[in-house]
Amino acid sequence: MRKSIVAGNWKMHGNLAANAALVTDLLNTRFPGDAVDILVCPPAVYIPQVAVLLQGGGIALGAQNASAFEKGAYTGDISLSMLAEFGVQYVILGHSERRALFGEDDAQVAEKFKAVMASGVKPIICIGETLDERNAGQTLDVTARQLKAVLDVVDTDSLSEAIVAYEPVWAIGTGLTATPEQAQEVHHALRELIASYDADAAAKVRILYGGSVTADSAAQLFAQPDIDGGLVGGASLKAKDFLAICSAAADASANG
Ligand code: PGA
Repeated sequence: MRKSIVAGNWKMHGNLAANAALVTDLLNTRFPGDAVDILVCPPAVYIPQVAVLLQGGGIALGAQNASAFEKGAYTGDISLSMLAEFGVQYVILGHSERRALFGEDDAQVAEKFKAVMASGVKPIICIGETLDERNAGQTLDVTARQLKAVLDVVDTDSLSEAIVAYEPVWAIGTGLTATPEQAQEVHHALRELIASYDADAAAKVRILYGGSVTADSAAQLFAQPDIDGGLVGGASLKAKDFLAICSAAADASANG
């Protein structure tokens, strides 16, 4: 059985005071034992602050991006070893905002994926189709292409440690959530694709849904057999909403 995981992607939100208040509220609720893995991904500049706030609280720390390079003349970039020094355990890669707004392509995302896998930090690799692609019936082709680009560059034995996030671009920040059935169809196809590389990894790899997940939509999404939790943007900035989503994921783990 796969353990559910919920990741909060704060994007470019927060400040010292708001981060402290949010993390304090999150840490006030404990989930029993091993029910769900929870992490928050603040803007990079706040990673040291949030690392201290989270200490001993059972919530892990993630980054929203990382360089594929170890060090050197890459102005503005941050390496994986720098992130690891502050206790970062996960890094989001290939988010559709980075692909669309900052021109990251499949090849660059694959280079980052390779570097993250080698570093011991866990990647959360994001993939998803645009509305035009969905309307043209290309959803499964586009998501398979994006996932294949990363599967092709790593040793498949280690894939079970990676986390995949299916995030339809049209659902991100729009209030439009994929239906549980739409999401399950894609998640199942992605797991089959991973199985064509390594059946054992496919059974273990966690595939998250992202795109306007709310406290109301989470339970039905997480009840789908191939949905193992969520990557949450807007709702991760409100402790009550994020905790309700984490609770839905913990219940889904418990109900197997
Ligand atoms: P959203 O963002 O929950 O605000 O739609 C999800 C994401 O971009 O990861």
